[in-house]
Amino acid sequence: MEKQEPVLEIRDLHTFFPLEEGMLKAVNGVSLTIHKSRTLGVVGESGCGKSVTAQSILRIVPDFAQMTGEILLHKNGEVIDLAALAPSGREIRDIRGRDVSMIFQEPMTAFSPVHTVGEQIMEAILVHDDVPKAEARAHAIELLKLVGIPIPEERVDAYPHQLSGGMRQRAMIAMALVLTPMLLIADEPTTALDVTIQAQILRLMKALQAEMGMSIMFITHDLGVIANMADDVAVMYLGRVVEYGSVRQIFRTPKHPYTQALLRSIPRTGRRARVRLEAIEGIVPVPLDPPDICPFADRCTQFIPGRCDEKVPDFLEIASGHSVRCILYE
Ligand SMILES: Nc1ncnc2c1ncn2[C@@H]1O[C@H](COP(=O)(O)OP(=O)(O)O)[C@@H](O)[C@H]1O
Ligand SMILES: [Mg+2]
Repeated sequence: MEKQEPVLEIRDLHTFFPLEEGMLKAVNGVSLTIHKSRTLGVVGESGCGKSVTAQSILRIVPDFAQMTGEILLHKNGEVIDLAALAPSGREIRDIRGRDVSMIFQEPMTAFSPVHTVGEQIMEAILVHDDVPKAEARAHAIELLKLVGIPIPEERVDAYPHQLSGGMRQRAMIAMALVLTPMLLIADEPTTALDVTIQAQILRLMKALQAEMGMSIMFITHDLGVIANMADDVAVMYLGRVVEYGSVRQIFRTPKHPYTQALLRSIPRTGRRARVRLEAIEGIVPVPLDPPDICPFADRCTQFIPGRCDEKVPDFLEIASGHSVRCILYE
């Protein structure tokens, strides 16, 4: 394997929400690495802490959240710990959009309804760069064209609600790419779209990545999408990464019982359509004052009493680049 350069390294990240009912441990000791020009897929059922991990990177978690750990951004040979920056200071605001930007499921929340798409993309350009307005507008049109929006010189003057869902998603990607970030965080960007449009958006993101060389953190609950998009995979469960490896390692030799269960639950199409879809029994609990045991203990088919409920298993590297947090491999 070629030598890989890290772009972002998360080390032992904890993001807790102190609530009246107790401490909600949304992210509970996450460590992962995103490499240059590669895509890290982050997968897990709803409520596993994927979005809060992404929000922690950009420092957009609510003020009352308690965050510890390191989020190391490698930028021009320098290492900046995003977790140590003031949450609304100039440094993180500069990094947001310029170096790291984010797209999410609902593009309507990314856009203001009262300004045109073009005005908002231009605004994003002008906040960071002092260029003439005409130049910013030309750049906005160029970006809309890049993301495959037809007749961009007209659509640039459209309001967000005048675009279809798929076109709005493209426009949000255009806005995220304004300053050619080194890392794009995509949080379930295609979950709300129909399959055909979803496939188009995924293809677009891959093409843009090839062209711009950016890294992508792709968050989804859909392992099928991961198979399509990711080079590396982090499987999350209840605020922790339970398995991390290359897409090949995760799909060919999954180790954690949770990863194995997720893989069995992928709906298959075509000839194998009749293979029974096996859902994972139970639901992801809310991590309110969770006990210090294996997070998957109460749903695991391989649960060993007295061992799995004794401590949190260590996160151990079992093959080069392949790590798992499970007592079966200790
Ligand atoms: N602002 C918040 N305040 C309190 N709890 C939150 C907040 N945001 C998320 N959570 C909780 O944190 C956990 C992880 O949420 P999230 O990261 O959104 O999961 P995912 O993106 O994997 O579906 C969930 O139990 C969720 O209810
Ligand atoms: Mg989420």
